[in-house]
Amino acid sequence: MPDASEARLAELRARRARAEAGGGPERIARQHGAGKLTARERVGELLDPGTFVELDRFVTHRATAFGMDRVEAPADGVVTGYGAIHGRLVYVFSQDFTVLGGSLGEAHAQKICKIMDLAVRTGAPVIGLNDSGGARIQEGVQSLGGYAEIFLRNTLASGVVPQISAIMGPCAGGAVYSPAITDFTIMVRGTSHMFVTGPQVVKAVTHEEVSFEQLGGAEVHAARSGVAHFVADSDADALALVRRLLGYLPQNNLDEPPRAPCEDDPGRVDPALDGIVPQDPHQPYDMRDVIVRVVDGGEFLEVHRAFAANLVVGLARLGGRPVGIVAQQPAVLAGVLDIDSAVKGARFVRFCDAFNVPLVTFVDVPGFLPGTAQEHGGIIRHGAKLLFAYCEATVPKLAVITRKAYGGAYDVMSSKHIRGDLNLAWPTAEIAVMGPEGAIDIIFRRELEEAPDREAARARLVADYREQFATPYIAAARGYVDDVIEPRETRPRLISALEMLHGKRDRNPPKKHGNIPL
Ligand code: HXC
Repeated sequence: MPDASEARLAELRARRARAEAGGGPERIARQHGAGKLTARERVGELLDPGTFVELDRFVTHRATAFGMDRVEAPADGVVTGYGAIHGRLVYVFSQDFTVLGGSLGEAHAQKICKIMDLAVRTGAPVIGLNDSGGARIQEGVQSLGGYAEIFLRNTLASGVVPQISAIMGPCAGGAVYSPAITDFTIMVRGTSHMFVTGPQVVKAVTHEEVSFEQLGGAEVHAARSGVAHFVADSDADALALVRRLLGYLPQNNLDEPPRAPCEDDPGRVDPALDGIVPQDPHQPYDMRDVIVRVVDGGEFLEVHRAFAANLVVGLARLGGRPVGIVAQQPAVLAGVLDIDSAVKGARFVRFCDAFNVPLVTFVDVPGFLPGTAQEHGGIIRHGAKLLFAYCEATVPKLAVITRKAYGGAYDVMSSKHIRGDLNLAWPTAEIAVMGPEGAIDIIFRRELEEAPDREAARARLVADYREQFATPYIAAARGYVDDVIEPRETRPRLISALEMLHGKRDRNPPKKHGNIPL
């Protein structure tokens, strides 16, 4: 006869096993068959081995409608708790699609809210692994209320602790707005979808025939809508990406980003940089080549790689310190600023500023993209977001002008005038109101009309303008750039500047919040 305590232990173990069984072997096999891990397998893969501590394992729903009183929903379809990534505390929720399709009811939402509240109280990141049919239909307004409670917490936690969403299955309806408020969204190619309304509703309302993949697949959101910051090839790939991303981020807004031992010589000069900018100012080059030659070990985690590729943003290290890189990409649309690139850049700059990640900006920008499409699309409003973001940022701001810094775009891109801390220029830099050809056509219009050989006169004036204005030395003479450097010296100069700025303290005037032109 087992004694009472043994019987209690046996009961506990049985209850635990039931809670951990998810939707049972059949549904788990279906999940695996779809190329997806289960909610618990994902948590195991995400966290440092053996660190996961589950909370609320025994929470169940209280719904009774539509036969719900007879439905057992282990862990109410979501696994929640805390653990470690790179030895640092994180909170995680992982929706279990094998239990009522991972749908979100009242208790499911309360579990997520509980770990979010703990995360804010203890200053640690929240990672959401989303795989859900959305609001649990049987729980009606309690489900909607549950989502709203999560949205509120996402918003209040924004800028306090990093929040990362991995989309690893369906994510539909209003449910997409929780990931949308978080800092980074990762989608898994082929198995994840995000949309406000699915293909059937789209067809009924607009008569448009569209597949899940075309409407809200990973590729579409990574390249067209910009909703997804990263695309992963599998669940394992997505979880590895979350770990890599967190390696650059502080635990919270009062913390420093994690410094790593630097195996790449901080004094390393790179002579190949001297020849990277082509002689012909109209010829493109790949700014990624510059970035990877400068940063520690050539390691660059690019964010939003497929979206607005005329601007490159991402995370890297310099002398072991995490930095946020923002750079024009002359190889795409000549690195021009347009609506999408301005929005992309603004969001990244604000993320870095919120979490104390210094900004390093590489500038080669011919200006803002002209034309009715951009003007009517609101380039004034959207371009202002990037300007606003740079102006309000108080983290250390470093900039390197590699070639063009023309017009308003010169001002926007971390210029000295908007509190750039250290602004360097390569000798190939051209800082001017506009490019030589455009400038000459405006200021010498009459002379050119009257010139006997118009083209020769124009070429002479362009050469003259280039020599006088399209250089970094006028800006350097006024201290608008702090120094003109040899490109090979870029890495040591940036690392030294970061060191110099380590104690930087800057504040904006007290206010409720600014009114960024949304
Ligand atoms: C309750 C749900 C559910 C839901 C799925 N299930 N979605 N149960 N509420 N919202 C259950 C199914 O009944 C099924 O149960 C199991 O989950 C798996 O679903 P399947 O349909 O068999 O899977 P699959 O074919 O892979 O299709 C997945 C799906 C589809 C695309 C997600 O289930 C679907 O379209 N569901 C509804 C999606 C939706 O419109 N949600 C509401 C969005 S609005 P059994 O017992 O058979 O395994 C919303 C509002 C948020 O979320 C509001 C925030 C403001």
